[in-house]
Amino acid sequence: MQNIHLLLVDDEDDFRNTLAKRLIKKGISPLQAENGEKALAILENKRVDVVVLDVKMPGMDGIAVLGHIKEKYPKTEVIFLTGHAATQDGVEGIKTGAFDYLSKPIEFEHLFGKIKQAYEKIKREEEKFEEAEFRKYMEEQMMTTERLASLGTLAAGVAHEINNPLAIINESAGWLKLILSKQEMAGIPRKKDFEKALDKIEKGVERAKRITVQLLGFAKKDDSVFAEVDLVELAEEAVHLVKREATNKDIQIVREIAPDTGTIWSDAYQFRQVLINLLTNAIYATDAGGRITVILEAVGDTVKLTVRDNGQGIPKENMKKIFEPFFSTKPPSEGTGLGLFVTRGIVEKLCGTIDVESRLGDGTSFYVNLPRYCKIKEDLDQDERIRFLDRLANKSKSTP
Ligand SMILES: Nc1ncnc2c1ncn2[C@@H]1O[C@H](COP(=O)(O)OP(=O)(O)O)[C@@H](O)[C@H]1O
Ligand SMILES: [Mg+2]
Repeated sequence: MQNIHLLLVDDEDDFRNTLAKRLIKKGISPLQAENGEKALAILENKRVDVVVLDVKMPGMDGIAVLGHIKEKYPKTEVIFLTGHAATQDGVEGIKTGAFDYLSKPIEFEHLFGKIKQAYEKIKREEEKFEEAEFRKYMEEQMMTTERLASLGTLAAGVAHEINNPLAIINESAGWLKLILSKQEMAGIPRKKDFEKALDKIEKGVERAKRITVQLLGFAKKDDSVFAEVDLVELAEEAVHLVKREATNKDIQIVREIAPDTGTIWSDAYQFRQVLINLLTNAIYATDAGGRITVILEAVGDTVKLTVRDNGQGIPKENMKKIFEPFFSTKPPSEGTGLGLFVTRGIVEKLCGTIDVESRLGDGTSFYVNLPRYCKIKEDLDQDERIRFLDRLANKSKSTP
């Protein structure tokens, strides 16, 4: 109640002041107006929850003021004060939208109770509104997630189908190059132009392949194989795969992998993809002499992966965009803008979360948190899954 914004409107100064004093004693300091025009002016500029409104006033009368209030501020509740035995005014007030009416002379506690009821009604409506808003937001979120999931499946399907023709184009270009390099072709006209065109084809295929590889991270349902996956092993493997790239740039990869990190239920290919995407981004962003740290640890029931670099960092205005598909700050020959999009897709599919912290010029950290198990529809081997869950349950029993 102390937070209520209350407005008293009455032309009798004494009456208004006495009322205000008693309200202040209860911890409420009301706004005051001596006529309808002033009341409406206050409402223009200030938030008011409840108005205590006299009917008989010089100038605009109470009913007219009430009509204005209900039209412009429908959420504001009005308690009507009528003259002695003037029930007709009160009924008129209720019809125009007043919360209730009291006849003068009024008893303070009675009025106070009514104010309280009116305020409670407002609070209830606000809660209802907030809940409806929240529900709407959640529904929109779910629609987006579902759309992205089906988009991902579609994209992975397309990527899969495109891989074959890409391979054929690539092979044919290679074959043509080989023919061109033969002695018998040494003197053909515009040989250089053919070679240039073939180079372009090969570069184009390479880029298309990079895109399909990323999109396949969403792996079609029947392609992913879920099993108990040893994260330590996988992390070592992923680091090994990008090691040469790092060494070439004189970047050190430091591993802080807790040997007891344990296993999760996942598709090995997908978790490795997450690691490789984060590592290749880190390598790209880091200058010679830099350092990348891969941390893997068990945190409660989850596994936490951190990939930290001391590279260039991410500008604030890009932080929101980096997970969007096709957002990239790299030249087209080097980036697809799909790495983080796919990474987040995989992490979410595994019921995990991904967060990023970055300071321009200092470096970037990506944090991935994965539960050891999440309900995945694609589970293949029922028996093995059950054995995994049993082990998990026993382990949580033995650790305090
Ligand atoms: N470790 C990092 N340091 C700095 N910027 C990064 C890092 N990781 C990602 N980014 C930024 O996020 C963008 C999107 O990354 P990603 O989705 O993997 O696409 P791509 O690597 O193909 O550009 C990058 O182009 C880069 O601007
Ligand atoms: Mg990338």
